[in-house]
Amino acid sequence: MKKDTQTNLIKSHKEKRVGKFGIDLGERGKYDIRNPLNELTGKEWTHFINSISETDFSSNKDELRLWKYLQDSVIPTYYTTNGKNTIGHKLRKIHPSPKPPALMKEIINFFTKSDGWILDPFVGVGGTLLGASLCEPPRNAVGIDLEQKYLDVYKKVTKQEGLKEQIVKKGDARNLDNFKEVKSKTFDLILTDPPYANMLSKKRTGGDRKDKGNFTSNQKDLGNINYKEFLNEFRLIIEKSLMFLKNKGYIVVFCKDMQPTKEHHNLLHADIIQELYKISNLQFKGYKIWYDKTLNLYPYGYPFSFVANQLHQYILIFRKEEK
Ligand SMILES: C[S@@+](CC[C@H](N)C(=O)[O-])C[C@H]1O[C@@H](n2cnc3c(N)ncnc32)[C@H](O)[C@@H]1O
Repeated sequence: MKKDTQTNLIKSHKEKRVGKFGIDLGERGKYDIRNPLNELTGKEWTHFINSISETDFSSNKDELRLWKYLQDSVIPTYYTTNGKNTIGHKLRKIHPSPKPPALMKEIINFFTKSDGWILDPFVGVGGTLLGASLCEPPRNAVGIDLEQKYLDVYKKVTKQEGLKEQIVKKGDARNLDNFKEVKSKTFDLILTDPPYANMLSKKRTGGDRKDKGNFTSNQKDLGNINYKEFLNEFRLIIEKSLMFLKNKGYIVVFCKDMQPTKEHHNLLHADIIQELYKISNLQFKGYKIWYDKTLNLYPYGYPFSFVANQLHQYILIFRKEEK
């Protein structure tokens, strides 16, 4: 905002000054006079920095709305974290980033048939496995995680919810070829949500405040290594898991970008895709965006500079091709 406009705003709202830097603009919220960029209040700023802008300028007709929904590449969800449809959220929330089982079910329904097998090498408290059990009929699944307490929580949830208990194994995903429960099968789908380098211990990308620290203190945790090492290790694990995936089977990976720095854009989703291009029999097929509407918006950067409030994650989709 130009200095004279700034001064005008301050003059015309003299009586509405709050604190040292605020002007009360009523329902619009508070304007900070140090704002060098625009005339937005904190509320309006926060609305703009949401990484997803939803618009519907088309029509009010219901059938058009439904068609628009069916065409959408964004999956907006609002999975409740309390009430009767939470699928054990109270127990699962000991994990820093559990995925909603209902969302995993939707993905599994698309990529498998009723007798399908699914592998998740980073299973946590079992979003993927619960999704597999919610399908009708329930699918079969194997999950691996370094941390026993997460697997125990998963088992508790299946009992509490009366869902089919899938196979879980404690261990390092780097050694997934050592598990007989993996070796003995040909999977139809690999669906996973890896720890993203040392993201949890770093300055967060907006919208991440639900996360509560590192997944584990284990050195083998892919969440405790740097960005470059992570990309390399993750590729090796995916390469190994391909041995147990059927031809034309899909690998679906959740990921979220980090804040850019001067040195690197930190578009993790793009770097994962680039890294996995090194696997000759794996083809990137595209992505979907998951917009988690339960996340809170925060006025990051206000009133000084733009900081994206990332409320979405990428669902990257790859397919195994014949060699
Ligand atoms: C993003 S979380 C997965 C959350 C899961 N989708 C859920 O719904 O609970 C990643 C998980 O990977 C596990 N992990 C990290 N490094 C691992 C490794 N080398 N082998 C197996 N699991 C690992 C962590 O313990 C963490 O639970």
